[in-house]
Amino acid sequence: MTSTPAGSITVTMEGSNKSTTLPLLGGTLGPKVADIRKLYGELGIFTFDPGYGATASCESTITYIDGDEGVLLYRGYPIEQLAEKSHFLEVCHLLLNGDLPNAAQYEEFHKGVTYHTMLHEQLRRFFEGFRRDAHPMAVMCGVVGALAAFYHDNLDINDPRAREIAAFRLIAKVPTIAAMAYKYSLGQPFVYPRNDLSYAENFLYMLNAVPAEPYVSNPILARAMDRILILHADHEQNASTSTVRLAGSTGANPFACIAAGIAALWGPAHGGANEAVLKMLAEIGSPENIPHFISEVKDKNSHTKLMGFGHRVYKNFDPRAKIMKETCHEVLAELGIKNEPLLDMAMEMERIALSDDYFISRKLYPNVDFYSGIVQRAIGIPVPLFTAIFALARTVGWIAQLNEMIGDPEYKIGRPRQLFVGAAPRNVVPLAKRG
Ligand code: SDX
Repeated sequence: MTSTPAGSITVTMEGSNKSTTLPLLGGTLGPKVADIRKLYGELGIFTFDPGYGATASCESTITYIDGDEGVLLYRGYPIEQLAEKSHFLEVCHLLLNGDLPNAAQYEEFHKGVTYHTMLHEQLRRFFEGFRRDAHPMAVMCGVVGALAAFYHDNLDINDPRAREIAAFRLIAKVPTIAAMAYKYSLGQPFVYPRNDLSYAENFLYMLNAVPAEPYVSNPILARAMDRILILHADHEQNASTSTVRLAGSTGANPFACIAAGIAALWGPAHGGANEAVLKMLAEIGSPENIPHFISEVKDKNSHTKLMGFGHRVYKNFDPRAKIMKETCHEVLAELGIKNEPLLDMAMEMERIALSDDYFISRKLYPNVDFYSGIVQRAIGIPVPLFTAIFALARTVGWIAQLNEMIGDPEYKIGRPRQLFVGAAPRNVVPLAKRG
């Protein structure tokens, strides 16, 4: 599938007779785009779009978001149906290969991931270089990047087979690395993966099992974890995905590109928001303090954000937030947790915010991070690991987007330009003569 001609726009420079006609391109869904590739050559001007709020960086067939309608599709399938009717490894196959697998394809894909879950034994020593209180995302950045040191045989991103093996290795090993980061922070022994468990079960097993006693899987928690992974798997050209594409456009190997994506995701404005939501709720302390907090958020001088609210694209409910909220209620009910103060506070905060004109006028709604932390806490995930789990889930989306770019024969190294407002040319005065 590719873009199609959809008319044109003419750009005329005021005060000169210079103008040019730019083709419009249309896709399957969403706004048309103006193809500005010849703009600089014809009019000698750049476009200006800090934060890329109105810039399409690529053609893609992977994920579609309609921010006004609150729609999210992975390869055309609504996220609500995938969350209910599929498992994470099926969604991995969908994102990487373009469709949900049939039974035979699933079996082969599952095997491809399962037999790459262990880390090279030398990598275990890598963890000892970190302080015990290192943030798991610092460990993920370091260890995922270090994988490149162990797989010299397939760093050639232009070789499809090398890309496939790297994809299996990354999807299979990031849960092992995240679990090892957690075990290392506790001073507990690393737990080797078990190939008889599902992807989500195996991750919870590596997080929670100890050699001193038998481990019993909890299907409720495993299903909730699997759904959390599905909801976070991909999300169009967000900051970390754009980072991965830009890194990949230089020819950097997949392990380095995914490590770059992990670094970008870590920020509290992006994947770090789920951890920030829990910290925010803890600082607020009780529902009575919510109105004061909301007034702080509305006071620009406080620089206080309502974490887990707002989104560059969604100007309606983030569909993932709705599913996450439902999952929260299901998990708490199935675990027999009658009252979860954090959930009560989050729901009260949502109620107050969504009736306040500050949020309504700015179209600020809960995003995926607003409830994900509460669900993860309910299933026993430690707060510092929330963003590492987001990275674990998003690894498949990053790889799919990277492979899509590399598979495009027209791709080039990414190199944005700028509007320079610095000093005009001037001469150096020797130090001795400088006033
Ligand atoms: C993720 O891009 C993706 O797809 C990301 C993601 C993915 O799956 O990859 O969806 C994951 O990163 C979700 C977002 C998680 N981040 C947070 O929850 C942090 C809190 N949110 C904000 O930092 C903010 O909403 C952003 C960063 C998410 C979006 O920033 P924008 O695009 O700059 O926000 P905006 O332009 O829509 O803001 C409009 C107004 C501004 O106020 P004014 O200047 O008009 O007066 O709303 C204000 C903003 O200051 N605003 C907020 C707010 N978010 C925006 N005010 C208070 N609290 C907030 N959370």
